[in-house]
Formats: sequence, structure tokens, C-alpha cells
Amino acid sequence: MQRQRAYPRRRRSGLSRRTFLGSSLGVLAAPTVPLIGQPRQSPQFAAPPFSLGVASGDPSPDGVVLWTRLAPVPLEGGGMPDEAVEVSWTVARDERMQDVVQEGTTVATPMHGHAVHVEVQGLEPARWYWYRFRSGREASRIGRTRTLPSPGLAINQLKMAFASCQHYEQGYFTAYRHMLEDDLDVVFHLGDYIYEYEGRDGRARKHTGDEIELLRDYRNRYALYRLDPDLQAAHAQFPFIVTWDDHEVDNNYAGDISEEEGFPRELLLRRRAEAYRAYYEHMPLRSTSTPSGAQMPLYRKFEYGNLASFFVLDTRQYRSDQPCGDRTGPACPGVLDPEATLLGDQQEQWLLEGLDQSASQWNVLPQQIMMARVDRSPGEDERISMDQWSGYEVARRRLMEFLATRRPANPVVLTGDIHTNWVTDLKVDYRLENAPIVGTEFVGTSISSGGDGSDVQDATAAMLAENPSVRFFNGQRGYVRCAITPTSWTSDYRVLEYVTHQGSPISTRASFTVETGRPGAQRT
Ligand SMILES: [Fe+2]
Repeated sequence: MQRQRAYPRRRRSGLSRRTFLGSSLGVLAAPTVPLIGQPRQSPQFAAPPFSLGVASGDPSPDGVVLWTRLAPVPLEGGGMPDEAVEVSWTVARDERMQDVVQEGTTVATPMHGHAVHVEVQGLEPARWYWYRFRSGREASRIGRTRTLPSPGLAINQLKMAFASCQHYEQGYFTAYRHMLEDDLDVVFHLGDYIYEYEGRDGRARKHTGDEIELLRDYRNRYALYRLDPDLQAAHAQFPFIVTWDDHEVDNNYAGDISEEEGFPRELLLRRRAEAYRAYYEHMPLRSTSTPSGAQMPLYRKFEYGNLASFFVLDTRQYRSDQPCGDRTGPACPGVLDPEATLLGDQQEQWLLEGLDQSASQWNVLPQQIMMARVDRSPGEDERISMDQWSGYEVARRRLMEFLATRRPANPVVLTGDIHTNWVTDLKVDYRLENAPIVGTEFVGTSISSGGDGSDVQDATAAMLAENPSVRFFNGQRGYVRCAITPTSWTSDYRVLEYVTHQGSPISTRASFTVETGRPGAQRT
């Protein structure tokens, strides 16, 4: 049983009360007023409050986070009164919710946008559970989730998918609909879960409102995305482990620095605080990730028995500014700045120590930005992306040298951000012809960002010829499905024909396998 006690006292602000009572869509005030400070136990809702569905995530061997948010009017601030409301939850061993193993109550508060995060404990390892929330006479849909295997246990197989970059306006989330057919233990989301931009006409769908900068606008934006039936179904079916990239706050921000030259740091931090809070409110994260102002601890580790350790990284919050402007171009001196960082000292230390101590057969880095150094220009000159690891060469090289010398078992990097599919060899020095491969990077395309896409782009052939370490490229939309065993890792690149209208079929464009102890992915 869990009870969240730290809810605020109900504010009796005449304005918000009147505003709320003036809305015919909100929660109807119950005839009796609860005691101040007590959550309303039997609220009545004028519209279904579980409009945003349910989600689960951050599994442990004995538990998982269950998430929902009460939002009868999801696109206009949620439509809840300015008071705390009781929400009960149930966990069962069967999909009909008859074999109940745990239940409890928690409180949805205005301060948290009436989002709830329940950290269930005491479950059995490596098994499926089903869960549901209730408030008043309303019930949520039933979600399904799964705990991690026991620590250190030998595991035969882990099945997962990873996804990123779901610009609502640029396409439908059809990829998630197909993902429902997959037999997966967990889904990783690598960032750009929302986009901050204002609504624009002439696209597949339209954002409501202007560019988002305030908590209430970020909340409404998450609600818009979570109303998508395919995304909502994926959350109900699989536990998610999430991390963010830039668009959860603002394009290409770096730490406290805006992409806009001369933009005041205090203002970026203020916006970041609002954005981080809304992110936390809408993701199935543990209380250890609770934001405090503009700080939010998000990097963390998950272990699937002795099979795989996942070091989930945050390459946005602690990074130094992109060198040479944010562009793609020739390296300027800033690329070799020894102080430049993507992870920040603390996270980098945590990662290297974790890798060093890991006894797992696979050491996986789910993160945001491309780690391989790719030359975007044919011929002698080199053009690299300054927003990716290539723009932070000293930090990139430090990590690659660590992999080369300390040799954690079978490093695999999972990446989002660039709306295209890639398989690359990770190397310390890309200029040396026979430089050893220290790991494999699987870059997954976007769910919808960039629109329909195409198998090859104009520059693909030249880029592949220029970069022998790139083993595969594809520019369609979709996600990557992975099957991990003690001897092999296979990634299936699942691609859609289109996303600008609904109903695209899906197919596997290519599969690549890495065998343990043998660096470099092979096409299978
Ligand atoms: Fe993106």
C-alpha cells in the first residue's frame, strides 16, 4: 500500500474557483466540501478523467512505476479543480484483473498537474502484471507491465525496441501500432518525445497553440501527444524507459545555453525548469528523478539479469555549448576543447565506473546523439555535426579510449535524434584505416519527424563511400526492434512506407547482428 502524503492544502483562491465553476467541462463539485488538506475521495467528473491513458516504466526486479494523469479537459490545462483527488490503483497477475496482488491509493494534486506516479514494490521478478487506476466512479484502461529479472540471473533472451523523435505535425505514430504486434519486454524512448514548436498549417496534423515556454503549455503539449491512440496503446502494453533530447525543452539547447546567440541563461533555465517539470509529470519515472528547479536527475542504470546493463544517458542537461555554432561544418578549434563535455563530470564518472564494474554480457548506452564521427563531405575536407559527439572530440575520444583499453563486454550504443537509420562501427580514430572497432552503434530513425522519408537520400552513396565505418543507412520512419541473447544482438530496422497519412504497412528493411566477443555488426 502506498500513500503519497505530501499534497498541498487546497487553495481557496476565489479566482481559480470561479474560473473552474464557470467551466461546464471540468469536474463537477461534489455536494460536500472535503476537509481542507484532505484529498477528495469521491470526485465526480463531467468528462472521462483518464483521457491520457496509463503508462509504466523504470522497472526493477521487484517493482515498476505506474503512471496516469487525471485530465478531463486534456488540451486546456486538464480541467481538474484546484484540489487534491484520491486515485486508487490495482495490480494483478492476469489481464482480467482478477488475481489481484497489490492495491493502494495515492493522491493526484494540482501542483503536479494531477499526475500520479506509483512506485509498486514487492512484485516477482521477470513477469507480466496488469494494472488499472480508479478515481470516483471512473476507471482507467488496463495497462500491462513487466518487472526486471533477478540481478545476476542468467537470461536467455531480452526483446526490446527503441524509438525517438515523434513530431506530431509531421506524421502519424503508426510505428507504435505495429509495435503492439511485437513480443517485447521493454521499450526505450531516446528523446524528442514532444516538439516545442507552434502549430503550423499544411501538415499532417497541427500542434495547438504557440511555441511552448510555460508549464501549462508544456502540459497541454504532452496531453496532445498522449491523446494519440497509437502512442497511448504502446504505453499501455509495454513498460517504457525514457530519456530526453533537446525538443522536450528547446531545439539544440546545451545545458543552460540557448541556440539563440546572446539569449539570457536565467531565462533558458526558467524555461528548462517548466519543461523538466512537465516531462517528469508525464513520464513513468521514479521519485529519484523528481526535478528541483531546472535540475532533474535522469541518467540511470537498468540490469537485465547478467545479460545486459543499460546505462541511460542524458547528453543535454550537463553539456557545454556546441562549438563553431550549432552547424555541420569543418572542425574549428572548439571541437578540441579539453574542457568541453556532453555528460558533465559526474555522469561521465558514473558511466565509466559502471562500465568498469559491469559483469553483464552486453553493456548498452541508450542515449540521444550520434556517437560515431561521420564525415558529411566527400573528398579531403571533413564536415562534422557540432551538436553530436563529433563536435565534442575530446569527450568522444575519452569514451572510445576507455572502451578500447578497459574493454567492458560488448558495448552497444543506441541513438536517436537524426531521423534516419544507421549502423556504425565505433572507433577511437576514424582516420586510421585499420583502427580497431570498439563497439557498435545502432541509430534508430524517427517515429514521425521528417515526414514520409525515403530509403536513400541524394548524398547517401557519397556518404557511405566516404565513411567505411558506416555499415547501413536508411531514411524511412519507424523503430528498431532488438533481440539480445548471451551470444548475439540482432537489430531489425522496421520501416514504414509513409507517415503523413494513416495505415502504412511496416516491413523489416534490414537486420544486423553483433556476436559477442566479435566487434562489428554483420548484415543478416
Ligand atoms: Fe528529433
